[in-house]
Amino acid sequence: MCWEQIYKQRLTTADKAILNIKSGDRVVLGHAAGEPLHLVDAMVNNKAQLFDVEIVHMVPMGNTAYLAEGMENHFHHNSLFAGMKTRKAIMTGYADYTPSFFSEIPKLFAGPLRIDVALIQVSPPDEHGYCSLGVSVDYTKSAAENAKIVIAQINKNMPRCLGDCFIHISAIDFLVRHDAEIIQHPSPNVTTDELVIGNYCAQLINDGDTLQLGIGAIPDAILLSLKNKKNLGIHSEMLSDGILDLVESGVINNKCKSLNAGKSVVSFLMGTTRLYNYVNNNPAVALHPVDYVNNPIIIAQNDNMVSINSCVQIDLLGQVVSETIGPMQISGVGGQVDFIRGAGLSKGGRSILAMCSTTNNKKISKIVPILDKGAVVTTTRNDVEYIVTEYGIAHLKGQTNKQRARSLISISHPLYKNQLAINFKQMFNEDY
Ligand code: COA
Repeated sequence: MCWEQIYKQRLTTADKAILNIKSGDRVVLGHAAGEPLHLVDAMVNNKAQLFDVEIVHMVPMGNTAYLAEGMENHFHHNSLFAGMKTRKAIMTGYADYTPSFFSEIPKLFAGPLRIDVALIQVSPPDEHGYCSLGVSVDYTKSAAENAKIVIAQINKNMPRCLGDCFIHISAIDFLVRHDAEIIQHPSPNVTTDELVIGNYCAQLINDGDTLQLGIGAIPDAILLSLKNKKNLGIHSEMLSDGILDLVESGVINNKCKSLNAGKSVVSFLMGTTRLYNYVNNNPAVALHPVDYVNNPIIIAQNDNMVSINSCVQIDLLGQVVSETIGPMQISGVGGQVDFIRGAGLSKGGRSILAMCSTTNNKKISKIVPILDKGAVVTTTRNDVEYIVTEYGIAHLKGQTNKQRARSLISISHPLYKNQLAINFKQMFNEDY
C-alpha cells in the first residue's frame, strides 16, 4: 500500500485517537516545544475514561492540566526533569521523578521504562511519506520507535528539520491534523552580572572551538560576548534564538568541526518563530536523537569541544549541585554530565560551569563550605574543570583540595569572602 493510502486510512480526530489510551498505560509526551498540545488536551478531556495513566515527560511547556487538583486518580506524572511547571508537584509527592542522564533516556524506553503510547507532533509528510520530528528529536524519536501505539499531531507549522529526525507515515498508528503555533520560548533579559560572566567565559573560548550551551540568561550572555570570535561550531543538546545573530554574522559557521563539519548538531530547539524559520529545511542544522548528540563518546569526537552549563551551588572541594536546593528537586541532570564528560575526553576540550556568585538578592552565596543537607551532587569534583562567576574564573582540574578552595573563594561574592576564609581555616588548619 502506498503511503498516501495509509495516510488516508489512519487519519482521525484527536478525540477518537485518544480512545486508544487505556487505564494503566504509560504515555510518553513529545518533549519541550514539540509537545503535541492538541493531543494532550484531548487526553485530559477524556479523563473520565482513564485511571492510573502514567505520563512520562521531561520539560513540559503546555498547561500541565493533568497535574491539576482532582486529576490524581486519572493521571500520575513521572518527570525526567523538574521545571517550573512540575517542581511543586514533585515536592508534594503528587508527581514522581526518575533520575537519568539525558543521553540514556532512549535506552530506558527500550528497557525498564516500556512505553504503551507515544503522543508526538510532526511536520506534514514529504513526497516520500516521511514526517520530520521538527523541534524535538531528543528522546521523542526513541519514544515513537518503542511505543506500542504512536499517535501524531501533524502540524504544518512544525519546521521540517533535517538530520536523523524522520518518521515514516507507516510507523504512526493514528494521524491527527491540527495546525497551531509551535510553542515559543523567547530569550530572557540579561543582567549586568550575567554580561560580566559572559565576558569571562569568552576568555576561555578560542576561535575554531565547538560549543555546547545550555538554556537561559547566562548562555545568552556568553553568546553576546562571542561577537569577535571566528569559525565557531555547535554540537549542543539544545539551541535557542541566542545563536542566530552569530550565525548571521558568520561567527558560527561550523567550518572547523572535526565531526559533522558545516553543520550545527542539536537534539531539540526552544525559541521563537525566528529560530524555527531558520532551521526549516536547512542543511546547516542537523537534529539527531539525544543518545547520539549527548553521547560522551560522540561529543569527544569534536576536537576543542567546550561545554558551558550552570549550577546552583558548589562546595569548596568543587562538588557541584545543579538540580536540587537542599533536598528539593528543582531541575535535573539533563545533559550537564554528558557534556562535561564528553568535553573532558575531547582533544583540546574544556568544560565550564558558569553561575552568579549569589542568589535571592545576594542573601545566599552559591559557593559554600559544605553542601546543603539533602543536596544531590550533579557533577562530581573529579569531573569539574572551570567555574566562572562575575568575580572571575576558577580552574579546578588538577588542583589540590586547598588550591580549589582558594580559587573558589577568590571568585566568591565579597559579602561572603570573610566567612569562607574562616571556613577554609577550619577545613585545612591553615590561613586562607
Ligand atoms: N540556594 C537557594 N536557592 C537557589 C540557589 C541556592 N544556592 N541557587 C538557585 N536558587 C534558586 C533561585 O533563586 C531560583 O529561584 P526562583 O525560580 O524562585 O527565582 C531557582 O533556584 C533557579 O535558579 P536560577 O539561578 O535562576 O536558575 P537558572 O535558570 O539560571 O538555571 C540551573 C540554573 C542550574 C537550574 C540550570 O542550569 C539547570 O537546570 N542545570 C542542570 C541541567 C543542565 O545543565 N542541562 C544541560 C544544558 S540544557
